[in-house]
Amino acid sequence: MAGSAGLAPTLRIAGLGRSFGRVEVLRDIDLEIGPGEFVGLMGPNGAGKSTLIKVLDGVYPPSAGTIRLGAQQVPSLGASPLVGFIHQDLGLIDGLTVADNLRLGQSPLRLVGPVLNRPAERAAAARALAAVGLDLPVTGPVGDLSPGEKALVAIARAFARGARILFVDEATSTLPPPDAKRVVAALRAMANAGSTVVMVTHKLSEILGATGRVVLLLDGRIAADRSTTGLGRAELVRMLASHEKGAAGPAGDPRPGPADPAAGGPGRTLLRLDGAHGGRAGPVDLVVRAGEVVGLTGTPGSGLHDVGYLAHGSLRPSRGTRTLAAGVRTALVPPHRETQGGFPDLDVGVNLTVSALRRFRGAFGLLARRRERAEGQRLVTRLKVRPADVGTEFRLLSGGNKQKVIFGRALLREAGVHVLCEPTRGVDVAARAEIYALVRRLPDEHTGVLVVTSDAEDLLAVCDRLATVSDGTVSDFRPVDDLDETALEAVL
Ligand SMILES: Nc1ncnc2c1ncn2[C@@H]1O[C@H](COP(=O)(O)OP(=O)(O)OP(=O)(O)O)[C@@H](O)[C@H]1O
Ligand SMILES: [Mg+2]
Repeated sequence: MAGSAGLAPTLRIAGLGRSFGRVEVLRDIDLEIGPGEFVGLMGPNGAGKSTLIKVLDGVYPPSAGTIRLGAQQVPSLGASPLVGFIHQDLGLIDGLTVADNLRLGQSPLRLVGPVLNRPAERAAAARALAAVGLDLPVTGPVGDLSPGEKALVAIARAFARGARILFVDEATSTLPPPDAKRVVAALRAMANAGSTVVMVTHKLSEILGATGRVVLLLDGRIAADRSTTGLGRAELVRMLASHEKGAAGPAGDPRPGPADPAAGGPGRTLLRLDGAHGGRAGPVDLVVRAGEVVGLTGTPGSGLHDVGYLAHGSLRPSRGTRTLAAGVRTALVPPHRETQGGFPDLDVGVNLTVSALRRFRGAFGLLARRRERAEGQRLVTRLKVRPADVGTEFRLLSGGNKQKVIFGRALLREAGVHVLCEPTRGVDVAARAEIYALVRRLPDEHTGVLVVTSDAEDLLAVCDRLATVSDGTVSDFRPVDDLDETALEAVL
């Protein structure tokens, strides 16, 4: 039975493969992972990372290969109490207390007969939280917690149930940097205590800062598997780039500099918010001018995304005003693209062009379908959507590829103000560079951009000026030119 302490058994995966129809998504996966290892699993969007984790969990049976846990061969790891899986949705119930979430699916602790031993449950819950460095009232609802605290509760739950091998699929991709750091630190502490952690991430800093080994998955195969000891950022970037043969990203410059204001500098005002209130935001004063990229950042609960919705117009101000210049339309990239706005059963091409059909109307109102498909295909190539085919059903795309398509749809809308929330969430290193290049090309004499993001790298890469949102209000703006990463962290 799951010991409350102790080392994880060694995990041995040999010749693992998985196909969907004729598409081989994983092949020849060999991995041996010992107790105390913290492995970062990287690879471009669509490489097969989530599929590998789902095969190990037992969601899909493997088409080939074996899985061994210690001395035992098993059909999957999902049934073992020694193994925990943390998927992106975390599997918590907001309306239940922290203590109840920790016991979810397990029989309650009882005093006698049906009388529950609540004090014992609460004490066990507090112990479980302490193991991941959380100190919270366990009787409060999970819905009141920050996203980072929720992720920690999910980890605490897996650990408290006896998991000593933990698979974490992009749990940090939706978290702002301070929360992501806490989560990664908790996982590091678990590995230090002898557990095994396998974490999928696109963030180089997480690989370099916390893991001991990086496995690069490419086209469903392991392309590299090495220790991170002595591995620097530049070398890791080279390693990713050298293997991504098709990814002709901007050579040697994965992080372009800030937007070029040479296009004439900020022009006429396209959008303004004056004392606007909506959701958790308000009062907000904000101006977006033609030719500029304006950045906003803040922590969850600050009202950051509500400012984005107010600017876009999907949230009407309950007080104050929103003014758009005549003839100006807005386009929105929503923050939670996994669940917002995709048509699962339609193909990628339609998902890209559906909000821009006016552009493709020809004579007699007929859609210029060839042009529409061509435009869609151009963006698919540019954003490196995989498979690179406008005919793929949207629901079959990997998480990051879905995000690219929703992003591309907003780009195709002919808008005067683009509101881009978390533009690089969930996308791989090559697509991130491409998205930065696309965003920097958007502003011109008719177009302005508002980037709303919790990712500091986005701000430095594309914005001309930035401000922070806290308690629903926007701070004074600062030009990005005089900020580097350290200065930015101080501002945040
Ligand atoms: N049920 C399915 N049927 C057909 N193809 C699928 C299915 N599930 C996944 N795929 C394909 O398998 C490939 C790998 O997807 P997967 O979700 O594992 O990628 P990933 O590495 O996790 O990417 P991301 O970084 O974007 O999350 C993708 O090309 C995807 O379209
Ligand atoms: Mg994935």
